[in-house]
Amino acid sequence: MYNIAIDGPAGAGKSTIAKKAANKLDFIYVDTGAMYRAIALYFIRNGVAADDEKTISDYADGVQQVILNGENVNDYIRTEQVSMMTSSVSKYPAVREKLLNLQRQLATEKNVIMDGRDIGTCVLPDAKTKIFLTASAGERARRRYKEQVERGIECDIKQIEKDIIARDEQDMNREI
Ligand code: DC
Repeated sequence: MYNIAIDGPAGAGKSTIAKKAANKLDFIYVDTGAMYRAIALYFIRNGVAADDEKTISDYADGVQQVILNGENVNDYIRTEQVSMMTSSVSKYPAVREKLLNLQRQLATEKNVIMDGRDIGTCVLPDAKTKIFLTASAGERARRRYKEQVERGIECDIKQIEKDIIARDEQDMNREI
């Protein structure tokens, strides 16, 4: 299989590039952030606190049945609340291990272009093509803001920039 890995921080344009390239190359686009976001949304809906590692780790075992429960949650996983929760719960080893296996499995079955925070380094270290895509926090905040406005969601660009900086800090300094 030919696999392409794209890593980089929030809002750099990873998914925009990955979708276009996948379309052109006829590869499957795998948005690993959406997988982490779906897990975070589940915890928000069930009142689980971001620092409750025990409940979150126990749950990660049954992740497939609960999250894929027939419901399409695509429209609910991009809010700022879900973004911050995702960044918090994705630092737990049990959550990462569960998704890592699903992501690797996909890449053995299909030609994939996969974006995320750890794809080239950890999930697909042998990917034939590896890209690290980034931009300044201000530029990434502008991109997120535009995206939210286009979805009809009201938001404050300064708050988005603050959230992006907080998420960078959390995503770059987690233990695994
Ligand atoms: O790419 P994104 O903004 O949709 O990702 C949401 C969060 O998920 C991000 O703050 C960190 C986490 N994440 C991760 O830890 N590993 C990945 N491969 C993808 C996302």
